[in-house]
Amino acid sequence: MPKGPRKVLGIIGDPVAHSLSPVMQNAALAHLRLPYIYVPFHLKTDQLKEFFRTLKSRRIAGLNVTIPHKQGVIPFLDSLSREAKMIGAVNTIILRNRKWIGHNTDGAGYVTSLKKEAGYSVRGKHVTLIGAGGAARAIAVALGMEEAREILILNRTAKKAFDLAHELNRKFAHTVYGASRLDKVEPYAWPATDLLINATSIGMKPADRLPVPLRKLKATALVSDIVYTPLDTPLLKEARRLKLKTHYGWGMLLYQGALAFRLWTGRNPPIEVMKKTLLDSLSR
Ligand SMILES: NC(=O)c1ccc[n+]([C@@H]2O[C@H](COP(=O)([O-])OP(=O)(O)OC[C@H]3O[C@@H](n4cnc5c(N)ncnc54)[C@H](OP(=O)(O)O)[C@@H]3O)[C@@H](O)[C@H]2O)c1
Repeated sequence: MPKGPRKVLGIIGDPVAHSLSPVMQNAALAHLRLPYIYVPFHLKTDQLKEFFRTLKSRRIAGLNVTIPHKQGVIPFLDSLSREAKMIGAVNTIILRNRKWIGHNTDGAGYVTSLKKEAGYSVRGKHVTLIGAGGAARAIAVALGMEEAREILILNRTAKKAFDLAHELNRKFAHTVYGASRLDKVEPYAWPATDLLINATSIGMKPADRLPVPLRKLKATALVSDIVYTPLDTPLLKEARRLKLKTHYGWGMLLYQGALAFRLWTGRNPPIEVMKKTLLDSLSR
């Protein structure tokens, strides 16, 4: 461990005890012998104001933000990055010149994971994105920034999908966003899909089944699930059975953390150390 006082990094959320960020980030900090410690802060919504009021007097150098505070922290910050503004949520906070700046590395973490773990570029691709919650929104913005050609957003609550598509069509010139209710998808959408993403919580329970006819996808399609508990979801198992390529949810978690690490420390994150720590924890 490095000598002298350590700066504090951490994650705020409610709940937060289940988060794997402390173990992953502390492994990376220890590997590079950096003078930081990363801790969880369990904060209720009504405690945010007081927490941020006293932040500058603490030794805190940066934070991650998880559910339910990704939007609630915004009023307490001095500015937002372009991604955080577009997504409308913050998962990483950095301190620069005594100012708190909100970033969002969720979407970029997902896209980086696709590149590094699946060798996949979304530019020019037809994407079917299931979900219109916080994670889907971050991914939909990142896919627009990467110039995916078309993104069809499917959601159980159709209005959320239509609202998101409408909003993003006005922000991105190179990507066309469409929307549909999850159980009312036009049949031609499936064979046109290059990349299918599950960004809902379906898959966390063994009996969870997405109403998606995987057998109608083309043989070159990539099936991606952002659920990472379990590591191997019913969707990914079924995709593998049909000999489709797959991409796992832990990748988004890993690379959003790696991008945050670089923002806080200015150092290249030790990806292999972070990946091993994360996968060891998830396999327990
Ligand atoms: N890999 C990663 O790093 C990472 C990062 C963030 C999140 N995640 C995972 O992604 C999932 C979604 O997170 P989130 O933050 O976006 O949550 P969220 O904002 O609450 O959104 C949940 C989404 O799941 C849909 N959904 C939930 N239950 C459903 C059901 N029974 N049938 C159909 N749709 C259902 C919701 O549809 P409605 O709008 O109709 O309710 C909504 O689209 C979670 O499992 C989370 O663990 C993974």
